[in-house]
Amino acid sequence: MTFCEYRPGLEGIPATQSSISFVDGHNGILEYRGINIEDLAKHSTFLETAYLLIWGGLPTQDELAEFEHEIRFHRRLKYRIRDMMKCFPESGHPMDALQACAAALGLFYSRRALDNPVYIRDAVVRLLAKIPTMVAAFQLMRKGNDPIQPRDDLDYAGNFLYMLTEREPDPLAAHIFDICLLLHAEHTINASTFSAMVTASTLTDPYGVIASAVGTLAGPLHGGANEEVIWMLEEIGSVDNVEPYLESCMQRKAKIMGFGHRVYKVKDPRATILQQLAEQLFEKFGQDEYYDIALALEKAVAERLGHKGIYPNVDFYSGLVYRKLGIPTDLFTPVFAIARTAGWLAHWKEQLNENRIFRPTQIYTGSRNAPYVPIEKRH
Ligand code: ACO
Repeated sequence: MTFCEYRPGLEGIPATQSSISFVDGHNGILEYRGINIEDLAKHSTFLETAYLLIWGGLPTQDELAEFEHEIRFHRRLKYRIRDMMKCFPESGHPMDALQACAAALGLFYSRRALDNPVYIRDAVVRLLAKIPTMVAAFQLMRKGNDPIQPRDDLDYAGNFLYMLTEREPDPLAAHIFDICLLLHAEHTINASTFSAMVTASTLTDPYGVIASAVGTLAGPLHGGANEEVIWMLEEIGSVDNVEPYLESCMQRKAKIMGFGHRVYKVKDPRATILQQLAEQLFEKFGQDEYYDIALALEKAVAERLGHKGIYPNVDFYSGLVYRKLGIPTDLFTPVFAIARTAGWLAHWKEQLNENRIFRPTQIYTGSRNAPYVPIEKRH
């Protein structure tokens, strides 16, 4: 088969066959393993959903209990990883710290026994368990504090909030954070998942796969947009400034952060749920100063750009939820990475089942048979 049409960004070109998640971008539908995201957000937890994504079906009570127990058991970091983190500059971006730490896990566990189900299970458990600890540890270390140990009596979300803030987590806050993780856990073949799959296809170790995906998620056109949304709302500053700001973006042809999506042409269903979660938090803990600006911006963008299918994506309201939970702005993308590790691991496993190394082609636009000009004759 030859396929010669070049599509920038591979738009519309299937890169794989997958049974992990499904998106209908015109009707705003997202399903994990066939289950609607709204149902999962209502009834499931992040770890149950991670199990569903990675192992292909909902766990029984015993299976879930065992999975949760294994993850609790593996939450601590090796002291050598903590020592390595002490050498990181405090001013560095936490996504860079996370990428380095995820890759460093491979130094300890990179046996690459990819045909051994025990190795696969251990890698899944270790990565899901340790990535939140790494994110929280970097946060405390850059403030000059020692990282605190995970607490076995707390669930996944509650323990992360505890390790990050050094305070007893509020039950509603922990519950809402858990749903946020669930909503960000998987989203078909986005840039970071594709990056994970390409890396996986070389049969390297899973720690390298996740490090590769973390690096890809970091950019402002992908996971980094949640952080950019808050900077943008801060820059807008008031509801009155929404129209002038939008006008200036349109004149400069600048993108409005947290809007638009390659697949969704309506409001992202996750943005709708995240907005509801933000409102629940505002009810209990007080409204965010940026919320009215966000609402006015959503309305103004829909009026001006709705005809192009530009509506809020997952990153638009997530930042407002994270701010209320006390998460610093530059940790929003690492928090996204904690969640998306589940999806990346599911795709890693699926890739291994029917692996063929990714090796696309190109349309060459350079010259041919060019002469080699000696250096003294070059101008
Ligand atoms: N603001 C204004 N206009 C936009 C936006 C936006 N956020 N997004 C798309 N458009 C417009 C483009 O200007 C373009 O218009 P044109 O056809 O008149 O030239 C049209 O919509 C198509 O845009 P593309 O950039 O070609 O869309 P693409 O599918 O390549 O990009 C992307 C999708 C990267 C998400 C884009 O919408 C964007 O940059 N959004 C802002 C960043 C963002 O929020 N990223 C997070 C995405 S969700 C995630 O990754 C987790």
